[in-house]
Amino acid sequence: MSETESVNQSVNQPVNQSVNQPENQSENGSENQEAVAARRDTEALLSVLDAADRVPSAARLRVRSYELLALVPGSTVVDVGCGAGRAVAELADRGVHPVGVDPDPGMLAAARDRWSTGEFHRATAEDLPFRDRSVRGYRADKVFHVLDEPERAAAEARRILSPGGRIVLTGQDWDAFMIDAADAALTRTIVHARADLLGAPRAARRYRTLLLDAGFVDVTVEVHTHVFTDASMLPLLVRIAEAACAGGTVRREEADEWLADQRRRAESDRFLLAVPIFVAAASAPA
Ligand SMILES: C[S@@+](CC[C@H](N)C(=O)[O-])C[C@H]1O[C@@H](n2cnc3c(N)ncnc32)[C@H](O)[C@@H]1O
Repeated sequence: MSETESVNQSVNQPVNQSVNQPENQSENGSENQEAVAARRDTEALLSVLDAADRVPSAARLRVRSYELLALVPGSTVVDVGCGAGRAVAELADRGVHPVGVDPDPGMLAAARDRWSTGEFHRATAEDLPFRDRSVRGYRADKVFHVLDEPERAAAEARRILSPGGRIVLTGQDWDAFMIDAADAALTRTIVHARADLLGAPRAARRYRTLLLDAGFVDVTVEVHTHVFTDASMLPLLVRIAEAACAGGTVRREEADEWLADQRRRAESDRFLLAVPIFVAAASAPA
């Protein structure tokens, strides 16, 4: 059986239907408030991800992730939590059969819109629509930190990867954002408050342990740092500050003042955000 055939059809079929006819529609055809909020959140996340993708170091990092996957032409590589699907398109250009999976219908719609020839399915990292040992490569970029139990995703990756298959996990450690700011203590509070709202904010520093515990071998870890000095990442800082505020750790006035400082820095070319990105790679035992 080919790797393509190994994708579970019963999971594939409803995927397209659910995205083409969004569940966001209620029976009378109007979106409910929750769905509208979810769509806005997806759009806001997409604009932050697009801005992050534009820095040259991000493009280099994606290339590095493809090198570490040790791509075998024609083989299936799954990009888990594929978002808007850029890696799927780039992997297709490298001669493999990439499959993007993501649970967010809005992300899948964006992916299909941007890369019409790409293969995308609705699924979670914890329950992937592939048979045991049927996939040669597994990639998850900026995904494990959103999971409540990254261990389950690592075990699921181990289940689907064929002997010798490669896994590459990449992403930021949310406690490790470095932001130049007037108020260092408030900055730490905001960064940590935002981090604490995530399922696994420090998953990136745990990649090695997660991979070893799941039974992978030849585990390697690298750290590459993205540096942003223009206003492109202001929306990310707004998201961080708003989340810290909504979570009750930071008062409205504190968040506003902190963001005003960041806006002034951006306007006067004094903005600096540095984010260390972990890249861990490993093999399924032969
Ligand atoms: C920060 S985005 C990263 C998207 C993409 N990998 C990129 O680098 O642009 C995180 C993605 O993980 C997806 N996600 C959330 N929960 C997930 C889960 N349980 N399994 C797989 N993906 C998930 C989100 O829908 C979102 O597309």
